[in-house]
Amino acid sequence: MVAPDELRGLMRLWPHGVSVLTVDFEGNTMGVTVSSLVSLSLDPPLVGVSIGKTASCYAILQTSGKWAVSLLGGDQAELAARFAAGRPPIVHWDGVTVHQGTIAPLIDGAVGWIEATTRAEHDAGDHTFFIGDVVNVEHGPATSALMYRESTYHRL
Ligand SMILES: Cc1cc2nc3c(=O)[nH]c(=O)nc-3n(C[C@H](O)[C@H](O)[C@H](O)COP(=O)(O)O)c2cc1C
Repeated sequence: MVAPDELRGLMRLWPHGVSVLTVDFEGNTMGVTVSSLVSLSLDPPLVGVSIGKTASCYAILQTSGKWAVSLLGGDQAELAARFAAGRPPIVHWDGVTVHQGTIAPLIDGAVGWIEATTRAEHDAGDHTFFIGDVVNVEHGPATSALMYRESTYHRL
């Protein structure tokens, strides 16, 4: 087994696309910045995301069983930082323009949006890996994508 910092030290050099996962349970909406979104299967269409067990959205994500991801555009670094900052949800949403998806709020101006219902949850150490059946895919207006590498946002 390696030390956590050994894995972190290598993976921080590896670029990841940045999304905001949103969840809505009975009008209680939360969002969190994620880089773990992965496309898993096309038939059936499945995506996965790994969420820390201490994340503020964790309980309502498990309870609601459905979620969305907004794939951020290259000029949306401020939004990524905001939804990673561990602030109360009311501060998260202040001034953020969204449109309502079939499942959760979708952040305007993104590369696109995916909505999913949880098919399975797998224990992944201090995270849980959520696998979702994709129920909606939409393209957005952004022409570049937001990436994260070495603690810095980049436009690609
Ligand atoms: C670029 C970036 C990617 C992140 N990816 C994930 C992720 O995939 N899963 C996760 O649980 N947290 C991820 N985080 C951490 C969360 O965004 C957030 O900081 C953490 O959940 C604490 O905030 P909270 O108290 O509002 O939950 C990421 C943070 C950053 C800056």
